[in-house]
Amino acid sequence: MQTVTIDSVKLLHWLNARKITPPMASERAGFTVDALVDGNTDIARPKVERLAEILNVSVEHLALREPTPAVIYASKQDVAATKRPINRGGIHFYNYYTLPSPKGQISPVLIDILCPKDRMPTQNNGHLEPAITINLGPGNINGLWGAEINPHTWHVLHACRDGGPSWVMGDSYVEPAFCPHTYSRASDEPAQILSYTVKSNLESFLAGANGWAGDRFEGMVERVAAAAFPAAILKSYMERHGYDATSLAAASGISGNALTAFLEGDEESLAVAELKTLGRILAMDYRLLLKPITNHDPVGKTLCTIAESRASIRRFKSYTVASMSAAPSLPDLTGLFMKVDTSATERALDLNDHSASHYYTTGGAMIFRWAGGEQTIEAGDALWVGPYVRHGFSGNGSLIKMGNGEGTTYLDQFEMSNSYQLADTLRRGWRDRQTWTPLHHGGAK
Ligand SMILES: [Fe+2]
Repeated sequence: MQTVTIDSVKLLHWLNARKITPPMASERAGFTVDALVDGNTDIARPKVERLAEILNVSVEHLALREPTPAVIYASKQDVAATKRPINRGGIHFYNYYTLPSPKGQISPVLIDILCPKDRMPTQNNGHLEPAITINLGPGNINGLWGAEINPHTWHVLHACRDGGPSWVMGDSYVEPAFCPHTYSRASDEPAQILSYTVKSNLESFLAGANGWAGDRFEGMVERVAAAAFPAAILKSYMERHGYDATSLAAASGISGNALTAFLEGDEESLAVAELKTLGRILAMDYRLLLKPITNHDPVGKTLCTIAESRASIRRFKSYTVASMSAAPSLPDLTGLFMKVDTSATERALDLNDHSASHYYTTGGAMIFRWAGGEQTIEAGDALWVGPYVRHGFSGNGSLIKMGNGEGTTYLDQFEMSNSYQLADTLRRGWRDRQTWTPLHHGGAK
């Protein structure tokens, strides 16, 4: 019979959340759950289904997931073995190769650009997931980002071809959700891009909203996109807390005119101190009332040229680094060019990131070290490194480093910044085995 391994921490979490004690759960399920609470246990799937039913969750909410590794290495040959051709517009258009990641997590892809220079590349429809794309060369490529041709929708993405520092590989750009994009070669030379498409932070919101009727969904869109976002979200909180503009002006001591101007979309009409006052009255995070920063072009994408990357070259710890395209509106999406030129005997684990990192070796030979071991790497090899895994590189070579929000998203960071007694809360919450009320059996304290 098929069995499922119950994660005792998840089971305890749901017993807590549903305010059901283990004896109650045992009685309702018709078998004792005590052993399941004490440690991860294999049980028959029908029993898990009964337990899931009692807790009003799905089996996946109780099942143990494989632990993710700290590091995954893939050699150049491993990456080459993932090659698959894609046809588009009736021609062999791309070859895709996938870089390593744990099961179900984001991974960058390498793409051979095959559409010839004298042919307009077939446009795609865009996708929800935002992305960073870098031209790795050796040839320049054309990018197309829309149906109408203008200097922002049709231009070259250059590769490093002028004898400048070759570890700053090429132009890079960030694309937002649903930005159409496609590429062709700009000359007879071959070219490859690295495309890093990450999970959208809107995905789970949209998955929930997919269950709403159309008029409810449209009502939401009209509400959040009616004016400037700070005004729209302030109105939403006023609705929820029972304030209109007059009563909110009276309660906050803010001038009615200034508040009305803010609600009509004038984001400069209130000072930060006044936004904080509104935050206190409406029990909301006042930072949502600040105007966000953007750096995109009229198509929504953010380009960073080789020259701009070179201008950012700086020393960072034992490395030389250069920025690539980044957008303050997509803080989880990051990329960095890195050059390694340190003695192989140095063993500094001097890198430590709050989210997962992907490395693609663009040249040379190096030693990669982490708290759990070491691995020699050379051009074409790739790594996945988990969040908060201390690591470092030595030797002579270059890398592209990419990052996303797997580990800590910026939304998690907002929540952390608002958490009461953060360190205590995180420590208590980590693999929490305590229940909201003392248990009457051996497994709990
Ligand atoms: Fe894409």
